[in-house]
Amino acid sequence: MTTYAVTGATGGFGGAAVSALIARGVTPGDIVAIVRDAEKAAALRAAGVQVRVADYRDVSALAQALAGVDRLLLVSGNEFGQRVSQHTNVVEAGQKAGVGLIAYTSILRADSSPLALATEHIATEKVLADSGIGVVLLRNGWYAENYLASAPTAIEGGVFYGSARDGQVAPAARADYADAAAAALISGQRGEVFELVGSQHLSYADIAATFADVSGNPVRYQDLPESDYAAALTQAGIPAAFAGVLADSDAGVAVGALDSDSSDLVGLLGRPATTFAEVIRTGLAGA
Ligand SMILES: NC(=O)c1ccc[n+]([C@@H]2O[C@H](COP(=O)([O-])OP(=O)(O)OC[C@H]3O[C@@H](n4cnc5c(N)ncnc54)[C@H](OP(=O)(O)O)[C@@H]3O)[C@@H](O)[C@H]2O)c1
Repeated sequence: MTTYAVTGATGGFGGAAVSALIARGVTPGDIVAIVRDAEKAAALRAAGVQVRVADYRDVSALAQALAGVDRLLLVSGNEFGQRVSQHTNVVEAGQKAGVGLIAYTSILRADSSPLALATEHIATEKVLADSGIGVVLLRNGWYAENYLASAPTAIEGGVFYGSARDGQVAPAARADYADAAAAALISGQRGEVFELVGSQHLSYADIAATFADVSGNPVRYQDLPESDYAAALTQAGIPAAFAGVLADSDAGVAVGALDSDSSDLVGLLGRPATTFAEVIRTGLAGA
């Protein structure tokens, strides 16, 4: 019997990964959901999953939470600037607990990516490589859901802003990345590296056209210089540091950093990827 664990299990990705493990035939009792807030874990408990509490900042709690775990899905944290030390804590705890394999959610082509976001992922990949634990790298491209935040304003105002020029992106649904992660956690072998993207290659004009199709309102794409786009995001209420990261990511799209012809995602899924329009339609319906 193999025991699996998933960190960030009360988050969008981690929760979907736990569901996907169960859908792929893993017995819920063989899954350990690692959460930092037990109160958010009622649904996981109801599903029969073992819930253990540990914060990424607490190595000894993490080591206790990982007791008896064979294969761990380390979902990257969301506290930018803190993530290398947090992920290092999880790896150290994994060493203490004797975890056999860690699958880590990195970023597309982390080793050559120009994105500012890649820095913490590259450092984490290095910590993992040096740990002696078996590693599977899940290098995720952009979530299709990232575009849901701008969709309502774009649809209302008729303009979708960005700074990706005419670059293309191959986004995929977060639930598809999570399902692929579950598949890799079950059957991945140490040393495997998956470059994960959706099957569509979309320019930002295509994304504007999708917003238009889904809503019935005309929407066009307006490209802005990176600094103007960052300023517009800040004006819209996004903290300046994060606005800078988002604008930098669009500049990455402009040079193809979030596009790839890899078929690793559909290979792991064993089915077609969810379309971008489907993610936007479903997301807007639930908003
Ligand atoms: N490729 C992309 O386009 C993209 C987009 C967004 C995010 N990401 C990355 O993918 C990860 C998963 O995405 P997501 O949508 O699932 O994000 P999310 O919903 O924000 O989930 C992040 C999870 O990390 C947990 N967490 C944060 N800090 C922690 C700490 N100190 N100790 C323990 N747990 C902690 C959160 O716990 P709580 O539930 O208690 O808050 C949450 O469960 C993100 O964290 C980020 O690294 C990638």
